[in-house]
Amino acid sequence: MIVLGIETSCDETAAAVLDGGRKVLSSIVASQDDIHAPYGGVVPELASRRHLDVVVPVVRRALDVAGVDLAGLDGIAVTQGPGLVGSLLIGCSVAKAIAFARGVPLVGVNHLEGHVYAAFLEDDPPTFPFLALVVSGGHTALYVARERGRYERIGQTRDDAAGEAFDKVAKLLGLGYPGGPVIERVAKSGNARAVSFPTAQMSDGASDFSFSGIKTAVSLHVRRAGALDPAQVADIAASFQATVVQTLVKKTIRAARRLDIDRIVLTGGVAANTPLREALAAECIEGHMHLHVPSRRLCTDNAAMIAAAGHDRLVAGERASLTMNAVPDLVLV
Ligand code: KG4
Ligand code: ZN
Repeated sequence: MIVLGIETSCDETAAAVLDGGRKVLSSIVASQDDIHAPYGGVVPELASRRHLDVVVPVVRRALDVAGVDLAGLDGIAVTQGPGLVGSLLIGCSVAKAIAFARGVPLVGVNHLEGHVYAAFLEDDPPTFPFLALVVSGGHTALYVARERGRYERIGQTRDDAAGEAFDKVAKLLGLGYPGGPVIERVAKSGNARAVSFPTAQMSDGASDFSFSGIKTAVSLHVRRAGALDPAQVADIAASFQATVVQTLVKKTIRAARRLDIDRIVLTGGVAANTPLREALAAECIEGHMHLHVPSRRLCTDNAAMIAAAGHDRLVAGERASLTMNAVPDLVLV
C-alpha cells in the first residue's frame, strides 16, 4: 500500500510517501524557521500563509522523489490535530482535495501518534507494551501503549511543554529561534553545575511535568545578573538543559518502574537533544530497559511518521469522510 502523508500542524510543511507503512520512499520537510525567527516563536498567521504557499510544491516533490504519481496512491494520511487551526486546515484541505479528485481513501492522524510511530520506522521497532515520552514544542506527555493504536496518557505538562521552555529560555538569552538546537550547541561550552535551577515535584505524586517554574527562574537569574558575557550565557544554557533533561529522565524511568514496563520510546522534537538521548539511554541500561529513539530527522516534525500511523489505520479499515475537519485540541487515546 502506497500512502502519501501530509503534515502541517505547526511550522513545518511536510509530505512523505511510504510503501507498506514502513519503507520511506520520500520525506520532504520545508522549515519555516526563517519567518518565525525574528519573533522568537511561531506566529500562527504567518505559519498558515507559508503552508499555503509551499504545500503543493512540497507534495509534488515528495511524489517525484518517490517516483509515484497521484494515480499510484492507495491512501492519504493527514495530520488532523493537535496543532494550530489555520496550519492544520491547509494540510487537511489539500489531502481532501486529492482524495476527492482521485477517489483515494483518506484518514486523519493524531500528530502525537505520528511522533510515536517514528519509532516504528527504525530498524529495531518497539514491541508492545511500551511507555512513550512525547516531548515537543507543543506537548510533553507520557503514554502507555499496550496495543497498536491504543494509548493511555499517564502524565502531561501542567503548563509549558519542554520544547516551549527551550524556545523561551533561548529568547531570554538572546540566542534566537528555534531554541532547542541553539541551547544544545551553546551549552556544550558551559558548566551544567554553574546555576542551580528548580525541578518541579508534583505534590500528588503524579507523573505530570511543569516547566514554567524553571523558565521563570532563568528569567529572574538573567534579570539579576545584568549584562551577560558568552561564558555566563553558556553556563545558564547548560544548567537549564541539564535540569530539564534530569526531570524528563527521572519521571520517565519512575513511571516505567511503577508500571513494570521495560520498553521506552523517546520521541518528538526535543528528543533530538543529544544530552537527553544519552541520559535516558544510560538510565535504561542501568535499569535493564530497552530504549527506542528515532533518528533526529524523524524526531522533529515530518510527514513520514504521519504516513506510517495513517497506513496502519487505513489497513484497519479506518476512513475519514470529506467532511473531516482540523481539530486543534485533538487528544490521543
Ligand atoms: O516535534 P516538533 O518538531 O514540533 C512540535 O510538534 O512542537 O518539536 C519542536 C520543538 C521546538 O520547541 C524545538 O526547540 C525543540 O523541539 N527541539 C529541541 C532540539 N531540536 C528541536 N529541543 C532541545 N534540543 C534539541 N536539539
Ligand atoms: Zn511535533
